[in-house]
Amino acid sequence: MTKSPVSYELLHVDKHSGARRGIIHTPHGDWQTPMFMPVGTQATVKSMQPRELKEVGSQIILANTYHLWIRPGDELIKKAGGLHKFMDWDQAILTDSGGFQVFSLADTRSITEKGVTFKNNVDGSTMFLSPEVAMKIQNNLGPDIMMQLDEAVPYFETYDYIKESTERSARWALRALKAHKRPDEQALFGIVQGAGFKELRQNSAKDLASLDLPGYAIGGLSVGESKKEMNRVLDFTTPWLPEDKPRYLMGVAAPDSLFDSVARGIDMFDCVLPTRIARKGSLMTRFGRIVITNHKYKDDFSQLDPDLDDYASTHFTKAYLHHLFNTNELLGYNLASMHNLRYLLKLMADMRTAIENDQFLDFRAQVLEEYG
Ligand code: GUN
Repeated sequence: MTKSPVSYELLHVDKHSGARRGIIHTPHGDWQTPMFMPVGTQATVKSMQPRELKEVGSQIILANTYHLWIRPGDELIKKAGGLHKFMDWDQAILTDSGGFQVFSLADTRSITEKGVTFKNNVDGSTMFLSPEVAMKIQNNLGPDIMMQLDEAVPYFETYDYIKESTERSARWALRALKAHKRPDEQALFGIVQGAGFKELRQNSAKDLASLDLPGYAIGGLSVGESKKEMNRVLDFTTPWLPEDKPRYLMGVAAPDSLFDSVARGIDMFDCVLPTRIARKGSLMTRFGRIVITNHKYKDDFSQLDPDLDDYASTHFTKAYLHHLFNTNELLGYNLASMHNLRYLLKLMADMRTAIENDQFLDFRAQVLEEYG
């Protein structure tokens, strides 16, 4: 059996919670967990240069199968030498499978055991995505970690529908594994589904764990259910995931949810939130989110966040950012994105230190009291 190119090393578990401190080894370097992964859907984290991403502490970034398949095409990226080379990012990359995007972006989709047929949201042409096609695309793109094709079902569907869909996604994981052509260089992660149903989540986790994959994601969360509900699902799902493999909660970046999930043993996160809200002028700071377009920042010459050490936070004032957004200047997007990513990546780094010192819960209380 081939040794997985991606492996997890558990360093320490916080004495007072389930928070885990670890390292993930990949062909493009090691990175520390718990970790937040900035989202670069179109092979770019919007408005950020790769060297700036490194400067704010990104150790792994995400890209998307669905978008890159449509434009510029996975064959073209393969011809360019793979995604790392094409976008000039030499650290780890994870690609999502397209499962979520087909269900959130595409029009008129129909799903069968074979796969999903849909009209894409760019030129409306009909496309077919199956577990095998998603693997072929991701083998061409060449990320370190690939996600299986799954069906990201709405949270509030009937038990019967969720059961049928979750079992199909587990069968798709096995098909993805069989279609994987580069097992020495790329790792395939499975995705646990099952909405809010305990039995379905547990069966999904058990089915996927039996495939002995190098990592597991929890999908279908942060889609409109309450935070309490998400925590309930994590409580009954994570115990069924192998301890020696990384656990990835998809689509989460709100600080309180990051703390709640890390406390329950989650190691990896991604979400468009920090960069998306940045482009609207929302900054994440120690004292919560501030909307920089607000008139009160017009002549506020204080730092964006006195705690942060990145270029945006140490060189520019709130008044300057206010001005950039007020005049629709492109630099505003870049500085605000840099700032929000630094906020989250530093938060994760501080969480890692707190776990090492068995002070994760105290650290959580202290941060959330100020963040609100
Ligand atoms: N991103 C956020 N949630 C999901 C999910 O359930 N599946 C996939 N593939 N991607 C996601």
